[in-house]
Amino acid sequence: MTDFTTTNSGAPVASDDHSQSVGADGPVVLHDHYLVEKLAQFNRERVPERVVHAKGGGAFGVFETTGDVSAYTRASLFQPGASTELLARFSTVAGEQGSPDTWRDPRGFALKFYTDEGNYDLVGNNTPVFFIRDGIKFPDFIRSQKRLPGTHLRDHNMQWDFWTLSPESAHQVTWLMGDRGLPASWRHMDGFGSHTYQWINAAGERFWVKYHFKTNQGIEILSQSSADQIAGEDADFHIRDLSEAIAREEFPSWTLSVQIMPYADAASYRFNPFDLTKVWPHADYPLHEVGTMTLNRNPENYFAQIEQATFAPSNFVPGIAASPDKMLLARIFSYADAHRYRVGTNHAELPVNAPHSPVNSYSKDGAMRHDFASPERPVYAPNSYGGPHADPARHGNDAGWEADGELVRTAATLHPEDDDFGQAGTLVREVLDDAARDRLVANIAGHVSKVTIPELRVRVLEYWHNVDATLALRVAEALEPSAPGADVAPETVGIGQA
Ligand code: HEM
Repeated sequence: MTDFTTTNSGAPVASDDHSQSVGADGPVVLHDHYLVEKLAQFNRERVPERVVHAKGGGAFGVFETTGDVSAYTRASLFQPGASTELLARFSTVAGEQGSPDTWRDPRGFALKFYTDEGNYDLVGNNTPVFFIRDGIKFPDFIRSQKRLPGTHLRDHNMQWDFWTLSPESAHQVTWLMGDRGLPASWRHMDGFGSHTYQWINAAGERFWVKYHFKTNQGIEILSQSSADQIAGEDADFHIRDLSEAIAREEFPSWTLSVQIMPYADAASYRFNPFDLTKVWPHADYPLHEVGTMTLNRNPENYFAQIEQATFAPSNFVPGIAASPDKMLLARIFSYADAHRYRVGTNHAELPVNAPHSPVNSYSKDGAMRHDFASPERPVYAPNSYGGPHADPARHGNDAGWEADGELVRTAATLHPEDDDFGQAGTLVREVLDDAARDRLVANIAGHVSKVTIPELRVRVLEYWHNVDATLALRVAEALEPSAPGADVAPETVGIGQA
C-alpha cells in the first residue's frame, strides 16, 4: 500500500487537511491545483443513475451446465459440463438509487455470462410476464410509476390510470400485487428471462425457449407491514442480505430450466407465444433442466463493478437469438443506447463489462478509449492486409423467422386466446392458494385505497372484475367504506371484457 498521498498525476501532495491561502485567514489561491482537483473530481463522482432499475446490488458467480440441451442450442455455455463465470445484478424498478429495497415492485434479475464466445446477457425479472406488450409504451408506463412533475411525489392515481387504460397489464399487476411484489430477499426469489428467445442447434435447427431460474433457497416473502417497517429501518436490506450471505460463504444458487417450443408450433399455438404478457403453461411445454447458477463472490467496488455494469439484451452468443417479441426487439435497441449515454461509448472496455474472450472489433476511438489494436492492423473491412473478417461458421445462424406483410401498427390477434385478462384470472383462481388470494385482496385494497379519484376507483374495480369477479367484490368490500369508489355496487363493476 502506498504510504503517501499523491495527486491524480502521481506527484506527492503537500497536505490532506489545509488549502493554500494568503496567510492563515487569507483568501484561498486558485493555483492550489490539488484543492481544485479534489473538488472538481468530487463534482464528477456520479454518473446518471439507470433510468429504471436504479437501485440494486449484485455479485459474481458461476454457471454450471449439468443437463444436456445440446440438441436445442449450440451455445457453448449450455453444453454439458461447461462452467462459465457470470455477474448478477438484482434491482427494484421504479425507485431511485437510494430508495428502499422493500418497496413493492418487480425485481430485476440481470445476468452477464462471460462465455468463451463473447458475453451473453439475460436481463430478466422475478416475474415471467410484463405490464405491456409493445416497447412504444415503455416510457409512458415508467413515467406513470415514477413521480409527478410538480410535487415530485409518487402517485397511485397515475399508476392505476395507466394500468387500467392498458388492460394487457393485468397479468403482471396480479403478480406484482401478490407475493412476488415483496420477496424476502433476492436469494429467495425466482428469476425469469420472461421473453421468448430463439435457440439454434449445431445443425441450424431453431427452437423457441423461455428461461426459469428457480431459487434453491426456497421462495420467501415479506408481509406488507414488515416490508414497510424495513423500508424505514434499513433501505438497503436486500443489498445487505446478499452481501452478508456471500461473506458467510452461504452461496445462493438457482437451478435453470427452460421450456422449449418446436419452431413450427408458434404459428398455430393457442395464443401468441411472443406476447410478453403471457406464460406458456407447463402442461404444454414442460421444463428441461439446464444447470445451476451460484453466486460466490462479492464485488470489491460497488461503483466500478455494479453501478458501471451494463447488461444488454442485445448481447447474444452463437446459438441464442431474438424472437419476434416486440418488447424484446425494442429492448435490443434501448439498452446499448442507454449504456453509451449513462456510462460512455466505450463502456464495454471496463473490466466488469469486458468479455473474457478476445475482442476483434473495428470500433475505435471515442471518449476514454484505452484499448487499441496494433498500428499494423487495418481500421476498415474488407481489407487486403489480413485484418479480422466475419466468419459465418463461427457466428452460427442469425435469429430468423418468416416475416412479410404490410407495414402496420397493431397487436396481432391471430390466435384464439390472444386476450388481456385470461391468464391473470387463471393465476388468481388456479395458481394461488387461499392464503395467497387473501394477501392479494389485502394488497390491492391497500394500494387502491390511495387512489383519490372516484371514477378511477370504479375503473380499477372493473379491471379486477375482468380478472376475476369474486376478487373484484372482495377488493370492493376491503376498501374503506368511506373512501371514494368503495361504494360501487357490484353490478356496476362488470363493464368491459368479462
Ligand atoms: C434496465 C429499458 C423492459 C428488465 C433498463 C434500462 C433501460 C431499460 C433503458 C437501464 C439500462 C442501463 O442504464 O444500464 C427497457 C425498455 C423496455 C424494458 C425500453 C421495454 C421495451 C424490460 C423487461 C424486463 C426488464 C421486459 C424484464 C423482463 C430490466 C432490468 C434492468 C433494466 C433487470 C436493470 C439491468 C441492470 O441491472 O443493470 N431497462 N426495459 N426491462 N431492465 Fe428494462
